Amino acid sequence: MTRTIVVTGSASGIGATTAELLRDRGDRVIGIDLREADINADLSVPEARERAVRETTDRADGVIDAVIACAGISAPVPATIAVNYFGVTELLTGLLPALSRSAAPRAAVVSSMASLQPNSPELVAAALAGDEQRALAIAHELCAHGPEAGYIVYPSSKRALSRWVRRESITPAWAGAGIPLNAVAPGTVLTPMTQDLLSDPTTVAMVDAAVPMPLGYHQPPGSIAHLLIWLTGPENTHLAGQVIYDDGGADVSLRGEDIWSWADRS
Ligand code: NAI
Repeated sequence: MTRTIVVTGSASGIGATTAELLRDRGDRVIGIDLREADINADLSVPEARERAVRETTDRADGVIDAVIACAGISAPVPATIAVNYFGVTELLTGLLPALSRSAAPRAAVVSSMASLQPNSPELVAAALAGDEQRALAIAHELCAHGPEAGYIVYPSSKRALSRWVRRESITPAWAGAGIPLNAVAPGTVLTPMTQDLLSDPTTVAMVDAAVPMPLGYHQPPGSIAHLLIWLTGPENTHLAGQVIYDDGGADVSLRGEDIWSWADRS
């Protein structure tokens, strides 16, 4: 059966590849992006998010089978928290009524292995509290200290997003309504986002030190797109609240084998 699937960030990289694969297999895709999409909207702006929710719901005649949220930026600017956290969580929440009218509703977001990197606890807390003004103020302050300090907005946005997915996934609104909600955390993906970084051997060495990828090295966008499509297909009946590190082994390289000993604390 044809499914109606909303893909954000559909004009480039992982989102564009996901939209193309879905269209190729006969699904109906509603793309959202800044430009060159079915719905052009700046997801860093609250009013534009609300408009995107209305227009997407109208275009889908009120029933959406899946939402795949790929839109994101990694620049050391305050907008990074607005797009990567609020632009995802508010859009998903706004589309819940249309999702809940589907026979097999699903949602997946693109987080990042960068969620494991040093972050700003204050910024993560403000995002998780839903306080966009405070989050933007903290991000402004960080970015005012230059690009190195400003970069921390990106891992903070992804840490908060991954935690939001885990927190919300088991609530009545999601699991209780029969909607699997999950995140994918990529390693280094070959898209326009990483093009400049990967064109200079010095920055490639920095990236590879931070994101070691023993399996397959830098990954094509399709490696993420196929997983997003499975997560949001009817075949996924019980996978919920997971942050799946689809990263060539970067997470294991960094965190090691043992993610269970938290259970052994007395
Ligand atoms: P990309 O730059 O190729 O695509 C991102 C898309 O998001 C673009 O089409 C852009 O126009 C859209 N977008 C940006 N700001 C927006 C806004 N305010 N409103 C609406 N749309 C907006 O990048 P890529 O690599 O495909 O990134 C997709 C997701 O994957 C992002 O969330 C990124 O953080 C995440 N990611 C990417 C990695 C990589 O190595 N490329 C690694 C880990 C995560």
